[in-house]
Amino acid sequence: MAGRVVVIGATGGVGSALARRLAARGQEPFLVGRDAARLGALAAELGAPSAVADVLEPAGLAAAVTAAGPVLAGLAYCAGSIPLKPLKRLTEQDFLEAWRLNVLGAALAVQAAQPALAAAPGGGAVVLFSSIAARQGFANHAAIAAAKAGVEGLVVALGAELAPAIRVNAVAPSLMRTGIAAPLTANAAMAEAIAKLHPLPRLGMAEDAAGLAAFLLSEEAGWISGQVIGVDGGRATLRSKG
Ligand SMILES: NC(=O)c1ccc[n+]([C@@H]2O[C@H](COP(=O)([O-])OP(=O)(O)OC[C@H]3O[C@@H](n4cnc5c(N)ncnc54)[C@H](OP(=O)(O)O)[C@@H]3O)[C@@H](O)[C@H]2O)c1
Repeated sequence: MAGRVVVIGATGGVGSALARRLAARGQEPFLVGRDAARLGALAAELGAPSAVADVLEPAGLAAAVTAAGPVLAGLAYCAGSIPLKPLKRLTEQDFLEAWRLNVLGAALAVQAAQPALAAAPGGGAVVLFSSIAARQGFANHAAIAAAKAGVEGLVVALGAELAPAIRVNAVAPSLMRTGIAAPLTANAAMAEAIAKLHPLPRLGMAEDAAGLAAFLLSEEAGWISGQVIGVDGGRATLRSKG
């Protein structure tokens, strides 16, 4: 699928891996991130256009997406969080922040991009990010599981509403070695123990999720919409031998 792809959360592990992958196959990424210095460095590395925006500020987010241009081949919303706390310590603010960052930001980004995605020859594609925790229960995940389940609701609702012009899918990773997962992966013993819980016994890398996102943004995925696909070493569906 030729044409420009907006990558929101471009300075993150998955966002930057996806932007590099798109650039390598000759598809121009339009980079959106909140940290101007890191965003500028990535934009210079890839020779890609960029816009600074905090996804928690709807007007700025919409302006950044609109600045990407009147025709867009795709949009990947890679911003997100993994706030982990037991229910007794979760505040109203924790739930609202998780929802605003993971669900509302994604919905408003797609809304801002809708005219440009619909204008793409052959149609546009959206990729959102859920989590294994949306469908499999893990302690201390209430705020993020609820938010990511909301992302999965967006995938089917927007997939139906925006068809046939725009395809909408999501990637649902298990634990990957990226910035937001650092509290869980920094301790080597803990990381190894979690890795062994996966039938394919390692932790994920940003490239694992970026590879599926790039495929879902490509013409090869032209008859796929409304899907949430795991990139999880088999953890969500297979019993581990370990
Ligand atoms: N890593 C995992 O284990 C894992 C597991 C399940 C699901 N996921 C999901 O996968 C997606 C990609 O995450 P990742 O693994 O690549 O983590 P990451 O490397 O920490 O990237 C997260 C990105 O979100 C951006 N972000 C956070 N708050 C923002 C805000 N208010 N405005 C703009 N950008 C904001 C961060 O910006 P900065 O670069 O400025 O910090 C960063 O670029 C997320 O949706 C995440 O929830 C990840």
